[in-house]
Amino acid sequence: MKSIYGCIRGLLLAACCVTLAWAQSSTEEAIAEYRAMFGDENPAELWQIRGEELWTTPRGPKNVALAGCDLGLGAGIVTGAYAQLPRWFEDTQRVQDLESRLVSCLTDLQGLDEAELLKSRFGDGAKKSDLEALTAYIVAASRGHTMSVSIAHPAAQAAYDLGHGVFYYRAGPHDFSCATCHGESGKRIRLQVLPKLLDPVGARYAYTSWPGYRVSQGELRTMEWRLQDCFRQQRLPQLRYGSEVAIGLTMFLAKNAEGGIMTAPNITR
Ligand code: HEC
Repeated sequence: MKSIYGCIRGLLLAACCVTLAWAQSSTEEAIAEYRAMFGDENPAELWQIRGEELWTTPRGPKNVALAGCDLGLGAGIVTGAYAQLPRWFEDTQRVQDLESRLVSCLTDLQGLDEAELLKSRFGDGAKKSDLEALTAYIVAASRGHTMSVSIAHPAAQAAYDLGHGVFYYRAGPHDFSCATCHGESGKRIRLQVLPKLLDPVGARYAYTSWPGYRVSQGELRTMEWRLQDCFRQQRLPQLRYGSEVAIGLTMFLAKNAEGGIMTAPNITR
């Protein structure tokens, strides 16, 4: 009796594993199909075009374009800028990622209101996010560029160290850290493969493919969005946009991706 029961349980388990594997591969296939359907077209281009318009059109109370915005390579230069972010900025005396740097430019140069901008940082239902569009445009201008982030400045090193610390910090009701889900290869959750973010191959693959157009949401999402969504999965308090923790984690991931070639914005699940 016992052995029959064991056998049935074994069969059920095997069937379950096959179903899991099938569902996993069908998700991946669906994305592959979706990519094939678009061919060389990527819906992220719509965000890039809107971002370019936002970058070049005089806007805000000061009615200026963003030609004066320095993303690290000089005022107005976008080509290759993202592949060297986050970085230390003399003018703001801060280490900034792309999104927090954009907030500085939009508020300081154009005179826009920070609270208003952040209200629609990921879109607010009625309004698409200007920050996501600008990010798409700027990131696309780094396609083919090699990730090369400097931590020579002590503040940049401190940001990296903070990100490293947070990555391993266990907290929340499940006592998870980022490393719990992303520290080993081959882990999965609800059928999704969890990318290993600590070895160079995994880190490069993950970092250089973000931001991405998420098929499941019909939206382009940036690294700040990705991180706050993982904070949510970890059941941590909401991650503040442009905070030291967000920038530190980005610095840690970007530095681990050193040498990777930027391919974003990509099509993601
Ligand atoms: C409970 C598990 C879990 C925890 C904890 C977690 N993540 Fe994630 N993370 C995921 C899942 C699941 C995905 C894939 C989501 C998807 O494909 O939609 C993901 C995706 C990512 C990605 C994008 C990788 C890629 O290849 O697209 C990054 C970067 C990331 N997480 C960073 C972090 C950081 C940093 C932390 C810690 C603050 C963290 N995650 C904590 C589950 C987790």
